[in-house]
Amino acid sequence: MTPRAERFIDWLDERAGVLTVWTTVFDRKIPKVNWWYTLGSASFFLAAMQAATGIFLSVYYVPTPEEAYISIEYIMNDVAFGWLVRGVHHWGATLMVVVVFLHMLRVFYYGAYKYPREVTWLTGVFLLLVTMGLGFTGYLLPWNQRAYWATAVGTSIVGTVPLVGDFLLRVLRGGEDVTLVTLTRFFGVHIWFLPAALFGLMGAHLYLVIRNGISYMPKRDE
Ligand code: HEM
Repeated sequence: MTPRAERFIDWLDERAGVLTVWTTVFDRKIPKVNWWYTLGSASFFLAAMQAATGIFLSVYYVPTPEEAYISIEYIMNDVAFGWLVRGVHHWGATLMVVVVFLHMLRVFYYGAYKYPREVTWLTGVFLLLVTMGLGFTGYLLPWNQRAYWATAVGTSIVGTVPLVGDFLLRVLRGGEDVTLVTLTRFFGVHIWFLPAALFGLMGAHLYLVIRNGISYMPKRDE
């Protein structure tokens, strides 16, 4: 680092404590770990990538039955690098579900959910549910046959829940059938409610990971 840059960092640190934040977040003590311990950070990276590509897609995507499919065709064929942004968002969604699930398996296999990390695990459970919710609501947005019928079937499965099934089905669909109302509410939930929940939960999750430190790999008898 040049002396000038060092002086600037010192100046900023005196006023904003940036070095303390840096050492707390990035310069932590980590026990001897292996590649499976990178899956949490991989999940984080994928979430950030989904947010970035999703924001770009929202510039051209139109959430109405008449325009949704056409707007996606337009993104794929006419928008500069639209195919790339959509491709990354599409495959990133599948990858994120797989990676988050593998991260959970790693935590389970090494017993990292035990004291004092029960709350970290609990926030993780909600993160998994939110990730799957994002996948489910996003699937309808292209408004093609596959999307429409997947949502019709998925929501009707929810409808079979005893006692509250009918109520839940109406809440999800916004009525009896999969219609314009379903598309707009899935869009709203996909771009506002669930991402807000995801990033809020990720903040809590990472705070707990830093506060409690990474667990060490259990020995044979532990
Ligand atoms: C979007 C989803 C998620 C993100 C971004 C995320 C992120 C992370 C990161 C960066 C770490 C530290 C590094 C590592 O151990 O890999 C971590 C640790 C942890 N995560 Fe997650 N995670 C997610 C989902 C989950 C899920 C689904 C569970 C369990 C149900 C979970 C439970 C835990 C626990 C218990 C730890 C502490 C592990 C230890 O101390 O060894 N996480 N997470």
